[in-house]
Amino acid sequence: MRILVTGGAGFLGSHLIDRLMTEGHEIICLDNFYTGHKRNILQWMNHPNFELIRHDITEPIRLEVDQIYHLACPASPVHYQYNPVKTVKTNVMGTMNMLGLAKRVKARFFLASTSEVYGDPDVHPQTEEYRGNVNPIGLRSCYDEGKRIAETLTFDYHRQNGVDVRVVRIFNTYGPRMLENDGRVVSNFIVQALQGKPLTVYGDGSQTRSFCYVSDLIDGFIRLMNSDYVGPVNIGNPGEYTILQLAEAVRDMVDPTAEINFKPLPSDDPRRRRPDITKAKTLLNWEPTVPLSEGLKLTIDDFRSRMSKSGQVAINR
Ligand SMILES: NC(=O)c1ccc[n+]([C@@H]2O[C@H](COP(=O)([O-])OP(=O)(O)OC[C@H]3O[C@@H](n4cnc5c(N)ncnc54)[C@H](O)[C@@H]3O)[C@@H](O)[C@H]2O)c1
Repeated sequence: MRILVTGGAGFLGSHLIDRLMTEGHEIICLDNFYTGHKRNILQWMNHPNFELIRHDITEPIRLEVDQIYHLACPASPVHYQYNPVKTVKTNVMGTMNMLGLAKRVKARFFLASTSEVYGDPDVHPQTEEYRGNVNPIGLRSCYDEGKRIAETLTFDYHRQNGVDVRVVRIFNTYGPRMLENDGRVVSNFIVQALQGKPLTVYGDGSQTRSFCYVSDLIDGFIRLMNSDYVGPVNIGNPGEYTILQLAEAVRDMVDPTAEINFKPLPSDDPRRRRPDITKAKTLLNWEPTVPLSEGLKLTIDDFRSRMSKSGQVAINR
């Protein structure tokens, strides 16, 4: 098949491309390189099945494709809050442009939505039926309300225009190629530990998160895209860890002597988030397989090798 991946030079997009290229598809990667990097897709640059287009999805584009995986959107608070209006434009105009393209060429459209649509949930764990507790005017709203409207657009194109759609709600995912400076909790802890700095925990560290390793997530994407179920489907790892437990796990793997510092919790930071993955299990026969200790090791190795090339590593255990 000919498959378009928007945001294909980013963290998740590039892992998805690796998988689709290995399966023998023709891939068009669309990216404006806001948070994505050519190094993530370098291995495919000269491959006859691969094409890279530098393009901002807030502008329309005409292409002939069979499937569209729509991932383009900055995903971490530092990046999506840097230019919140642009984040909204990417979610609204960008998603509309990609849905318009799917409608025109009758391609199947896959939306990478997020667990952030549940906001600070008052139901735990979150099933797909839960409608969320989201602040429409907060600092995170450009992203979480942006993704909610992206879901709305996707379902309206489906109902009104018969576009074939799939919607996944992604929970925290980690793995090689995450950005060093994106402020996400896993990358923060790993970078701090490798630099020999204290690990920063916001709040008392009792807030919980679930962490899905990237290869598990991509497997869920492919299963959903090629199933008959429209969604939304939660894809994430239901194993729940406190932030303090995560900090201790990274510390123990990189530098057991590192200190842990506590700082005030930012506003709108959810207390708990854990997916209910019953739908993914029953409808897609999917569940995560990579344990946190194994995924963290692979991620730490990748950060160590990237950071030692730029001379940023103090701890080399
Ligand atoms: N990583 C996670 O844990 C997670 C969790 C929930 C949802 N998601 C969603 O998955 C998708 C991918 O996330 P990621 O972690 O790979 O983030 P990322 O920042 O690494 O990737 C996003 C990519 O989109 C590109 N992009 C951004 N705006 C664009 C625009 N206007 N036009 C063209 N390209 C643009 C960026 O350059 C980047 O390559 C995002 O939609 C994100 O919201 C990710």
